[in-house]
Amino acid sequence: MKTIKDLDLKDKNVLVRVDYNVPLKDGKVESDLRIRASLPTINYLLENKASKIILISHLGRPEGKQNEEFSLVPVAKELEKLLPGHKIGFYNLPKAGEKIEIPKDTKIVLLENLRFDPGEEANDKEFIKNIIDSVNADTFVQDGFAVVHRAHASTDAVKNFLPVSAGLLLEKEVTNLKKALENPEHPVVLIIGGAKVDDKQPLIDKFVNIADYILVGGKIAADGYKSDNAKIIVANDFDEDAEGAKLDIGPVSTAEFVKYLNGAKTIIWNGCLGKTEDPAFATASSIIADIIGKNQAATTIICGGDTTGFVENYMEIHKDLKYSLISTGGGASLEFLLGKTLPGLDF
Ligand code: 3PG
Repeated sequence: MKTIKDLDLKDKNVLVRVDYNVPLKDGKVESDLRIRASLPTINYLLENKASKIILISHLGRPEGKQNEEFSLVPVAKELEKLLPGHKIGFYNLPKAGEKIEIPKDTKIVLLENLRFDPGEEANDKEFIKNIIDSVNADTFVQDGFAVVHRAHASTDAVKNFLPVSAGLLLEKEVTNLKKALENPEHPVVLIIGGAKVDDKQPLIDKFVNIADYILVGGKIAADGYKSDNAKIIVANDFDEDAEGAKLDIGPVSTAEFVKYLNGAKTIIWNGCLGKTEDPAFATASSIIADIIGKNQAATTIICGGDTTGFVENYMEIHKDLKYSLISTGGGASLEFLLGKTLPGLDF
């Protein structure tokens, strides 16, 4: 995969697809994981003397219409905080034929939500060509790993007009996930949690031939998931609330999971093991986050929105923990691990 490290960036206008589809609350960014994850690429482009860095992203699903609720303005503010000394130029999507005049002293620009125009999701060539021309982009960097499973104008049609290379986040995501999928060091342990068995069964089916052990917890286990495959270990004791609802896996199953994790060389974790929003039922997930984050001898991958959110919060208090990859991609990492060809990676 060609990356930005292969490019001569000096004086180039670089169009960068990021995924700033972040949760907002009261007009403010609630989790900046995806914004922080884009910084290594932005800093690399700055250090290598790119002329302008034009960031493009979507946020939410405004269905092709301008809708302030999904504006990227709060993201621009957050990005400015994370890049001290830099002013972020913010512009609406250009009208047909319109040029965006970026002032000389502005290096970084963020355009408004791509999905305010139906052309983005329609994978419309004219739409993306107009953006490219509006900022005189010389080259395109794909760094929005979380959106590469969508065939949209900024992941797919764009390839018709500019040379494409991977940003540093994309490279990190793909390298770690590819290794886990194609060439993992054994023992390989996949931990599955979460609520919806239909979402997770394809991953279990795929990894039954790759993993040495698959540990199943979460609501899936509490609802009675069964398997007669000896590799698949399903939690069978649970912590319950006053009404008897099984809201976390219990101490016996947690201890058994830990036994399989000790000595693992590749660990992939998708799905919380309990109802972690309630601290009373976050015990198993905390213990597992701890064990994985201290295993520096293994490739450790955390994926799926709930799990990455939980681990990110847990790391705020447990700063010594380290993981090879906390994936920014929910659907994208899942599709990647299922071995699908993703339009945004096909370059
Ligand atoms: C995500 O959050 O999974 C990506 O940003 C893709 O968003 P989408 O599911 O709305 O296409």
